[in-house]
Amino acid sequence: MKIFLDTANIEHIRHGVRLGVVTGVTTNPTIISREGKVDYQKRVKEICSIVPGPVSTEVLSQDSKGMVAEAREMARWAENIVIKIPASLEGVETTSVLAGENIKVNFTLCFTLNQAVLGAAAGAAFISPFVGRLDDIGEDGMEVVADIVEYLDYYRLPAQVIAASIRHSQHCLMAARAGAHVATVPYEVLLGMMRHPLTDSGIKRFQDDWKRMMAEEG
Ligand code: G3P
Repeated sequence: MKIFLDTANIEHIRHGVRLGVVTGVTTNPTIISREGKVDYQKRVKEICSIVPGPVSTEVLSQDSKGMVAEAREMARWAENIVIKIPASLEGVETTSVLAGENIKVNFTLCFTLNQAVLGAAAGAAFISPFVGRLDDIGEDGMEVVADIVEYLDYYRLPAQVIAASIRHSQHCLMAARAGAHVATVPYEVLLGMMRHPLTDSGIKRFQDDWKRMMAEEG
């Protein structure tokens, strides 16, 4: 499972890339707004220059004509740009147009297998089920991820599933078990994925034993 960072924070993105595990980034208007008042285009271009893989950026229009126009403009920003299009009917139409122009689409705000079926049929490169938001309303977000993965696999469709709206490291391991191609995670969740008290105590014990042995030798 590939790991993307769900952030527009440059420091965090640089760290993830330095670790050698973050290969893509996803943003949305909420994520960008967390960075204060930034030049949107400039920030996305900077992210694109740091990250080796896909960088998703979201349109704000709600009608297909507006979304297509925004997407065409954004697609010129960098080679690795992917356009987030919402899972609405207007979004399906937009996805079909953009896919026909070889502009990569991340079909976002996806909450059901039915929405994913239409997004994949329209030619989306990525489908993003929002796990945490489904869990928030008492549904099983990870079940939707697993269903979409199974569906795409069964029909050998090329779209990749991005498990999105990931809230904690348990979500990450469930996404991996469900066969998600990608998990897009907040920075804190990325850090949490490596955290284990037995690793910390194990490192300390090795160091203590080594120091004790050296002291005894001396
Ligand atoms: O990847 C989508 C994500 O940014 C939404 O997360 O926590 O607002 O549901 P959240």
